[in-house]
Amino acid sequence: MVIGLADAHGRVARDLRVSLTDRCNLRCTYCMPAEGLQWLPTEETLSDDEVIRLIRVAVERLGVNRVRFTGGEPLLRPGLERIIAATVALQGSPETALTTNGLGLDKRIDRLKDAGLNRVNISLDSLDPARYAQLTRRDRLGDVLTSIEAVDRAGLRPLKVNSVVMRGTNESDVVPLAEYCLSRGYQLRFIEQMPLGPKHEWSRADMVRAAEILELLGQRFTLTPASEPRGTAPAELWDVAADDGQPGGRVGVIASVTNPFCAACDRTRLTSDGQVRSCLFSRAETDLRALLRGGASDDDIVEAWVGTHLAKPRAHGIDDESFVQPERTMSAIGG
Ligand code: GTP
Ligand code: 5AD
Ligand code: SF4
Repeated sequence: MVIGLADAHGRVARDLRVSLTDRCNLRCTYCMPAEGLQWLPTEETLSDDEVIRLIRVAVERLGVNRVRFTGGEPLLRPGLERIIAATVALQGSPETALTTNGLGLDKRIDRLKDAGLNRVNISLDSLDPARYAQLTRRDRLGDVLTSIEAVDRAGLRPLKVNSVVMRGTNESDVVPLAEYCLSRGYQLRFIEQMPLGPKHEWSRADMVRAAEILELLGQRFTLTPASEPRGTAPAELWDVAADDGQPGGRVGVIASVTNPFCAACDRTRLTSDGQVRSCLFSRAETDLRALLRGGASDDDIVEAWVGTHLAKPRAHGIDDESFVQPERTMSAIGG
């Protein structure tokens, strides 16, 4: 019997975000320091079989119908293809997606597609090689662009590109990124920087707000709000009119700080060390790894997961001055 992950505010979680590792091969300045973070020891990370069991419980007992793999960098997980294949083989065959920085994806995209991967979102904050290297502390822009082209060729749609906008760093990339994506039919979403990285990296006053991003886009493009309802999607979408220089299309803005989408949130999260979180910004976690390794039944796991969601807060409160940043950073929680 499917129970459903309802909370006390009328929402039901159907979208599971699974972090497969807290490690990463980039060092984006808004995410982690140059030396990296204190990575989880291997024995604390769920094995492929443990991840697959928890995804099975989420899909077959809790009604999850979309599974997104994140990290850290999920391509660092050798078992990714096996985990995806096991996910799509579950009852109801959930949609699968990957959020990745793209490094090495060109070499794996055919295997990932064969395993049943439906969609890919790739992070790209600049098209300028020097700025990309400054932002990620690695000189790898060419590799990412090669991977984006490989996903395009493999036909996975929609292909989404995520760009975090930072003041004094990549505002001048907003228009070139939009031109690049529009001309190739990719859906670009600009993201407001959230307080989930090294603590000194975020400032409410300094953050580039969605309204400013739209103003920058408006200097080059004609934008109108997309007509269809947004549903549970984090991005507000805008139609871009075609002009002489470029085809029309869509761009989005994820305004997690100035216009949070909590009211429609349908997400549940599993960290790479087996903790369930009902919100990206939760300060509470439920330890499913301890249950798994202690010999718990599927019913026990269902009960713990349902209990976590019943306590899901109405909103994360990031737009409030009293907001407290969670202990774990984005790469350890799962992007
Ligand atoms: P689709 O719309 O299904 O393609 O997925 P998505 O946009 O949810 O996935 P993606 O991993 O590409 O996330 C895009 C950005 O949204 C991330 O970079 C985060 O910055 C932000 N994001 C993801 N999940 C959450 C969440 O639960 N809360 C908030 N506030 N932001 C989130
Ligand atoms: N604020 C907003 N987005 C972030 N990401 C990572 N850290 C942050 C942050 N502090 C983005 C990455 C990637 C996705 C997984 O999350 O750029 O697109
Ligand atoms: Fe890695 Fe993503 Fe963090 Fe960049 S934002 S360092 S790609 S986990």
